[in-house]
Amino acid sequence: MANADLEAMVDTSDEWITERTGIRERRIAAENQAASDLAYEASRTALARAGIEAGSLDLIIVATISGDMPFPSTACFLQNKLEAVNAAGFDINAACSGFLYSLYIADNLIKSGANKRILVVGTEVLSRITDWEDRTTCVIFGDGAGAVILEPTDEDRGIRSSHIHSDGKMWDLINVPGGGSRNAVSVDTIEKRMHYIKMKGNETFKVAVRTLEDLAVKTLEGENLDPSRLSLLIPHQANLRIIQATAERLKLPMDKVVVNLDKYGNTSAASIPIALDEAVTSGRIKDGDYILLEAFGGGLTWASALIKW
Ligand code: ACO
Repeated sequence: MANADLEAMVDTSDEWITERTGIRERRIAAENQAASDLAYEASRTALARAGIEAGSLDLIIVATISGDMPFPSTACFLQNKLEAVNAAGFDINAACSGFLYSLYIADNLIKSGANKRILVVGTEVLSRITDWEDRTTCVIFGDGAGAVILEPTDEDRGIRSSHIHSDGKMWDLINVPGGGSRNAVSVDTIEKRMHYIKMKGNETFKVAVRTLEDLAVKTLEGENLDPSRLSLLIPHQANLRIIQATAERLKLPMDKVVVNLDKYGNTSAASIPIALDEAVTSGRIKDGDYILLEAFGGGLTWASALIKW
């Protein structure tokens, strides 16, 4: 769906969307596709690239805020589709930070020895919880999925450190107020469009810039790594201006930053694994490279991971 398509739906313009966000297009899932269907496609590709069978997975973690149903978990739908008969599965709800929250959990489970082979997926069909009459949100979001597989290694590479943070005081900046046990689905909640994403964009923007700059600096400091040694920054794809602010703070040129929001918009938990996949397949990541991943989203939540590839 291009910006021009949105011009026909709400009072907006290609110029406004491009200037304020950097987004030009977003992908919309087909009517018969739910989050686990997109997750399945990404997971099949990850398994094929790793050259392993789904039966060898012992855990599936799915990060999503737009799962197939309130329950069971999307991870269970995915486990069934993949025939990953030896894997347990659960979902993580940390909005746009969900993939990095899941990576943190997977990293620590592997380090503890509890699990040996974990599939981590970020998948979203945000188009189903987007209010297509609200120009302040509908121009931003898109659908997509990305997947990675983690296992232990004795080699000098992998996740160097991972970090997660929350501040529930600011829950009201981004949320879907209806449909849970606070405001159960009713004619009233539907009429008030409470089953759609609500976002105080400008306030969120300011907190995001401040928080992500700080997070990126602290993650690198924690590993005694000067920003100049970073080969690539893979940020959550919410807004080009937020991404540029983090890059400036780290004094990183933009050719060391992965930006693909122009094609996909903000795909929440899927955004970092999609960007990671594009960076790997286009040859932008080489063995031994230091890669910094960082994200910010509803909760509020924020998270980072430093990887030696
Ligand atoms: N088209 C045209 N005009 C618009 C649109 C639109 N689509 N949307 C808002 N406007 C108008 C507003 O009404 C306002 O008009 P006014 O000045 O007459 O009142 C004006 O544009 C400016 O609005 P702002 O909200 O101040 O615009 P801003 O520059 O902040 O951009 C945006 C909005 C893109 C949402 C930005 O604030 C942003 O990216 N926020 C961060 C989002 C984010 O990081 N979210 C976290 C992850 S999401 C998750 O976790 C699910």
